[in-house]
Amino acid sequence: MKIAVIGTGYVGLVSAACFAELGHDVIGTDVVSEKIDKASRGIAHIYEPGLEDLLKTNLKKGNLSFSLDLDETIQSSDVLFVCVNTPQKEDGSADMTYVEGVSKRIAENLNDYKVVVEKSTVPVQTSMWIKRAIDLYKKKDKTFDVASNPEFLREGSAVSDFLNPDRIIVGVETEKAKDIMIKIYEKYKDRLLVTNIDTAEIIKHASNSFLALKISYINLISELCEKTDANVELAAKGMGLDERIGSQFLRAGLGYGGSCFPKDIRALSRIGEDLGVNMNLLKEADRINLKRIDVFVEKIKKAIWVLKDKKIAVLGLSFKPETDDIREAPSIKVIKRLLEEGASLSLYDPKAMENVKKVFPEKPSQISYAKSPYEAAEKANVLLIITEWDEFRELDLNKIKEVMANSIIVDGRNIFEPAKVRELGFEYYSFGRK
Ligand code: NAD
Ligand code: UGA
Repeated sequence: MKIAVIGTGYVGLVSAACFAELGHDVIGTDVVSEKIDKASRGIAHIYEPGLEDLLKTNLKKGNLSFSLDLDETIQSSDVLFVCVNTPQKEDGSADMTYVEGVSKRIAENLNDYKVVVEKSTVPVQTSMWIKRAIDLYKKKDKTFDVASNPEFLREGSAVSDFLNPDRIIVGVETEKAKDIMIKIYEKYKDRLLVTNIDTAEIIKHASNSFLALKISYINLISELCEKTDANVELAAKGMGLDERIGSQFLRAGLGYGGSCFPKDIRALSRIGEDLGVNMNLLKEADRINLKRIDVFVEKIKKAIWVLKDKKIAVLGLSFKPETDDIREAPSIKVIKRLLEEGASLSLYDPKAMENVKKVFPEKPSQISYAKSPYEAAEKANVLLIITEWDEFRELDLNKIKEVMANSIIVDGRNIFEPAKVRELGFEYYSFGRK
């Protein structure tokens, strides 16, 4: 059985390398030649811990390859994992242009029975559209099945998430497709849940939106803590000790970013509304999340009053640690707001600087890029923590204090112990705790 991975972005590149690691014969394809060129040489176009090692080992073993030729890739493979992007449209719904485009190409190249697997995050009932598109354009005598196999990996720990999954969800509508999918995931048969396709599609969107809800919920509680003497960290700890609640995804702060939660919660809202279901619960979670940026900027203003002509050190640009991804990153929203107010910014991130430079190609004179957190902090009136990289937890705060103009920290991720930072002589602001 030969596996094709169509679209070698964050999900596709990791999936291709990991399927090969599981012993399958894999070919990855993409429309961007630079991605394929790099992948063929064992280089990942993204920063993802452990990925390049896997690419190199499996390219060497000979069971992993990459090609720009989508037609040939489809023709030579038995199972096609569709991992293309499904970005958000202006109205909040998911843009299915790329999925549809690939479906047509699959139809045109359907030379034998194949299983077409949606791995991209798609609205419920997408499989019906994929099936229809392939049926419309394929030769009459050729057969295929559609399956859903949503992906749950997190950026920054994608390889280990893929190779040590909590669960594998497979949605199928024929025994033949079911047997093939079970064979691919044989190693994980104890964690495999087989459902119909609509259910598998719903599981993905419902999971992401539930986690986003959880984050917005703790951020709401955090606002309540700020108005009282409560401490959100301890509140989250106390809540999380209840196994029914669990301790994960209860970190208050700047809110969720990334290419998934913001778009997926909106896509699910749209799907629900189109089906006549009131989705206000999800809309409120989205609203709370968007408001986190205002709350953060207000904290900066509370600390240094007027932002115009102030120097602000910004530590952390990626949407979360251990990735260079800045899609929907809170950092970009905060930076834009601070620039509008006339502040000058010195930015630092361990991995995401090059991507941020692309967002501000005409680098405004207000922005400079620092080589270290200490350089960013030089002569700054305030230092912001936007992403909780371990490197920032381990900062020598005495050194930071020496180089700053004013010893003020506004921490968007609650990475420091308030009492300790204040003992060092800093004025310190964080979320949901005094
Ligand atoms: P991405 O933009 O990094 O990757 C998508 C890739 O598909 C790109 O490299 C693009 O060039 C390629 N592509 C587009 N059209 C193509 C075509 N016709 N033929 C071949 N390649 C084509 O996106 P991503 O972050 O990998 O996400 C992909 C999907 O997986 C989305 O639906 C997303 O919601 C979902 N998902 C993402 C994550 C994550 O952590 N990033 C996790 C789970 C699920
Ligand atoms: C998320 C899900 O965790 C994955 O299971 C899913 O596969 C993926 O979306 C997807 O569908 O694309 P990811 O976006 O990579 O993964 O990262 P997370 O670790 O979930 O973090 C998302 C955002 O939530 C980050 O901005 C993070 O800072 C924020 N977050 C997370 C909080 O603000 N508080 C928390 O307690 C946890």
